[in-house]
Amino acid sequence: MLLLTGSANRALALNVARHLNLPLAKVSIGQFSDGESCVEILENVRGQDVFIIQSTSTPPNHHLIELILIADAIRRAQARRVIAVIPYLSYARQDKCLYPTQTPIGAKVIADLLATCKFNRILTIDPHSEQLQGFFSFPFDSLYSTTLFLEDILKKNYSRLVIISPDIGGVRRARTFAQRLNAQLAIIDKQRFKPNEMQAMNIIGDVEGYDCIIVDDIIDTANTICSAASVLKENGAKKVIAYATHPVLSGQAIHTIQSSLLDELVVTDTIPLNTIAQSCSNIQILSVVPLLAKAIEDIYKES
Ligand code: R5P
Repeated sequence: MLLLTGSANRALALNVARHLNLPLAKVSIGQFSDGESCVEILENVRGQDVFIIQSTSTPPNHHLIELILIADAIRRAQARRVIAVIPYLSYARQDKCLYPTQTPIGAKVIADLLATCKFNRILTIDPHSEQLQGFFSFPFDSLYSTTLFLEDILKKNYSRLVIISPDIGGVRRARTFAQRLNAQLAIIDKQRFKPNEMQAMNIIGDVEGYDCIIVDDIIDTANTICSAASVLKENGAKKVIAYATHPVLSGQAIHTIQSSLLDELVVTDTIPLNTIAQSCSNIQILSVVPLLAKAIEDIYKES
């Protein structure tokens, strides 16, 4: 098997390769002067199972195009199988038409675009919603950071714990955590009238005197989690800790986190953190490397 990566998260790909005791295949990645991406695979891939590790993180369009170009080059060079390992799959939040406005179903558009690459399968982590699988007409495997997060929560020995879903869409995820930890569940009824902007928050459930753990798939502007932290503290929460798989952390997110009532944020390395985020004492990073490496090995061995 051959592992290679685009420019989205080279550190993650290198760590997966190290975990599997393999080198990362050589690829030249650059841009023409007008901004078009150009890629060249510098190794023979003929007859190999090739895993392309590339999150479509910021800038999402650029990283998506890089992935597609790499896939095309590999296909033309006659690899045996091409597997896209997309730890963070962007556009997944655009999974429905927002009537009465006229909007595309971005997630379906991206699924159709990826289908043109003729990947044998796609491997991702914590996709925004489970129905996303239905947008793809070829194997789409999802891994979950649940076990990674649960182990960390258990290590921290919280006494009175309540698991918080920051919106109605996340209830299933939060309920899994609550059941596995034998903890209470509370739900924040979040109303969003515009993307990335929150309007209202009500809590369904009891949080007074509890340590509250918010679980979410994505932390983007950090408005959801930080507003949740405020409303939880207003309602008597002792501590508020958030676990979010994909640290998109766009715009003023770090500033929002630093000036919030959030006690701690735990994320994974599906997306690299910038140096400011890395130096935040209340942001902890857990690694998905073992999870990805095991899945890649299983796919390779068809086990
Ligand atoms: C929304 O449905 C997602 O699960 C996240 O809650 C959301 O994307 C977080 O975005 P932000 O950090 O910008 O509030």
